[in-house]
This record gives sequence, structure tokens and C-alpha cells, in this order.
Amino acid sequence: MDNIILVGFMASGKSHVGRILSERTGMPLVDADSVIVERAGKSIEQIFADEGEAVFRALEREVIAELCSDKGQIISAGGGAFVDPDNRRAMLAGGMVFCLQARPETIYHRLKLDNETGQAVRPLLAGPDPLRRIRELLAQRAEAYGQAHHCIDTDELTPEEVVEQALNLLPTDAPSST
Ligand code: S3P
Repeated sequence: MDNIILVGFMASGKSHVGRILSERTGMPLVDADSVIVERAGKSIEQIFADEGEAVFRALEREVIAELCSDKGQIISAGGGAFVDPDNRRAMLAGGMVFCLQARPETIYHRLKLDNETGQAVRPLLAGPDPLRRIRELLAQRAEAYGQAHHCIDTDELTPEEVVEQALNLLPTDAPSST
């Protein structure tokens, strides 16, 4: 079985959906950002602060290429990964790519929740007007995200419902619900 690859903007629900998908299919979940953090020995926030975005993107490219050359995993990728053409090629060839989509306002509210629970700090949204930045980045990335095999609108869906949709879109020889 090829990989199932989750892409989409920050706070679109990739990690949560990935966890449920992993439980439902029995396939291991690999979070590309966690692999980067492990290798760098520091948080994403710290990589951006110490070395800048270009170094983070180079690490990300390395990790995505490696993960996509393996099989049978649920891969959750950071929000910018699918924007890079090399990553995009590797992901589209390495499995079924699902882009989780959400409106800017939905993303903004989910990010606020993440911040409040201390789940993740997003350096790209650290400025004074995160909602505006979300809109700008979404507009810049829309074309790339649109190249996923399937896009799922998550605004009105629970993570379980997103998983249901994704499983229904998989080819029939792939593992389905257990
Ligand atoms: C980024 C998204 C983050 C992380 C980094 C950059 C992006 O991952 O990779 O902060 O460019 O959208 P999440 O999508 O898991 O927040």
C-alpha cells in the first residue's frame, strides 16, 4: 500500500486526522515536522529563529523525500511542504495526497485554541495581524494545494467525518475502516 499523505494549511487538522486515520487503517503515523525537530534537536520555532526559514525548508525537503520513498505510512506534512515543487512531486508519486482545507476564520480560531493549549507555535503567523497573514498565505498557496489528489473541506466536519471522507476516497484495495 502506498502512503496516505495529509497536506494543507497550518491548523487544518492534519495531525488529529492523521492519528484517527492511523487507528482506523493500522498504518503508522509519521509527522514530518516531528522528524525535523528530532533531527535538528530543537523546535521548529527555534530552527526558524536560529537558522531562518531557508534552513528549515531544506531540512523539510530532505525529510519529505525520505518519507515518500517508503510505503504504508500515514504522513502528516507541515503546511508549507506541499508548496515546494520537489516535495509536491515526491508526495504525488509517493501516495494518495489529501489536502485538508478550511476558511481563514476557521484556521484562525483553531490556531487560537492551539496557542491556548500550548500545542504549537507557528513562526510564520507571529506578526500583529495573524488573520490577515493567514489570508495572504492561503492565497499564495491555493494553486499548490489544489494539486492534491483530493481536497476535503473541513469547516463543517469533525475530524472523524474528515477521516470517513478520506477512507471513502481511497482505492478499494486499500485498507478501509476496521
Ligand atoms: C508551516 C507549517 C507548520 C511548520 C512550520 C511552517 C507552514 O506545520 O511546518 O511552522 O509553512 O505552513 P503545521 O502545518 O503542522 O502547523
